[in-house]
Amino acid sequence: MTSHTSLDLEARNILKQNDRGGYTIPTAGLYPYQWNWDSAFAAMGFAQFDIARAWQELETLFSGQWSDGMVPHILFHQPDPGYFPGPDVWGCEGPIPSSGISQPPVAATMARLILQKDPEAGRAAMGRLFPKMRAWHKWFMDWRLDRGAVCVTHPWESGRDNAPEWDGAMARIDPSDVGEYTRRDTSHVDGSMRPTKYDYDRYIWLVQLGRRLHWDQAAMLEENPFRVADPTMTFTLLRAHRDLMVMGELLGLDTKGMAQEIFLLEKGAQTLWNEELGSYDARDAKTGEWAGCISSASFLCWLAGLPSDRQAEHLERILDATNFGVPSHDPASDRFDPKRYWRGPTWAVVNMLIGLGLEDAGHPLGKRVRELTRELITRFGFAEYFDPMTGEAAGGKSFTWTAAVWLGWASPARGRT
Ligand code: GLC
Repeated sequence: MTSHTSLDLEARNILKQNDRGGYTIPTAGLYPYQWNWDSAFAAMGFAQFDIARAWQELETLFSGQWSDGMVPHILFHQPDPGYFPGPDVWGCEGPIPSSGISQPPVAATMARLILQKDPEAGRAAMGRLFPKMRAWHKWFMDWRLDRGAVCVTHPWESGRDNAPEWDGAMARIDPSDVGEYTRRDTSHVDGSMRPTKYDYDRYIWLVQLGRRLHWDQAAMLEENPFRVADPTMTFTLLRAHRDLMVMGELLGLDTKGMAQEIFLLEKGAQTLWNEELGSYDARDAKTGEWAGCISSASFLCWLAGLPSDRQAEHLERILDATNFGVPSHDPASDRFDPKRYWRGPTWAVVNMLIGLGLEDAGHPLGKRVRELTRELITRFGFAEYFDPMTGEAAGGKSFTWTAAVWLGWASPARGRT
């Protein structure tokens, strides 16, 4: 057995071990529930060996969709006392106990990859998912646009929890009335790799605010001080909407209005271009201030169909400055921290999204990103994330989305070398 076939086997086993029957947890202990974008990647991973299970993963995720179209970032299918903040803290009333915020909408993009593998096998499931995905995308467009760019209302919503992009908006929150709580994440992994108490107090304060407002989007729009237009959300939604429209056409479904929505999101994405930085950047929708960050999310522009030569120059510079990119934050910045979560480490899932976009655009850096992700996983395993300088594995182990990215994109078995 060559080394990649044994890694393929290990990756399948990780998905199977993290399978809780219809949905997959990111990793036991640290993340014991169904997470939104993790699940979309898991589905793509399952599609490499079990197409029916792949569609089931997505259908379970959408079974938690709220009546307003929102698909929560966590579905608490089974109680687990080892996790905080659990359903009692969020206080939500969706069809399944859940969090009250969403996460980057990559589900349609992953669904398209799954459908391409076996169009006949996916026809019925995708027919059921299409209106649900459309309603979710519409929810973002109804409630989250600022000049056409998609905003996050909590750092967790971006999927990049403690990224430096949120520092400015977080500093404006006074969490002195947050009260006592016990974190659980630091009992599973080393605290030096996790967000700080300063961040955590503000995360919980924002959850308490949403709960007090019954997660009513109109009220949150008024009262929530945290509203940041985010490249992750904007680029993933733009790409997902394009993918959804293609699938709708293929399946003969009603795609009326989608082309205009794509046009609006394209315009919105351009409002995230920070000319002084020469990069896509996050923008505080409350103050209009730039975050001043070149992050891995800046490089999702190709995924969204918006190539940029200046962005490519930054990517090349950053890949040259690291051994195992793409780091979540620019190593040239004084806020770069190679071990702390979204302030420096490399994440295989973001690499896949960046690489997919570059490869679709025929850009040579796509192959480089895929090959370094392959090397990273081959040498350091299926960790949650990695130090971009040394490659050292960090965070949770036996991680679902890293295994899925291996199976669906980074493994040599995928054909492209
Ligand atoms: C962390 C990550 C988030 C992910 C979740 C589960 O909160 O920041 O992106 O979805 O873990 O893996």
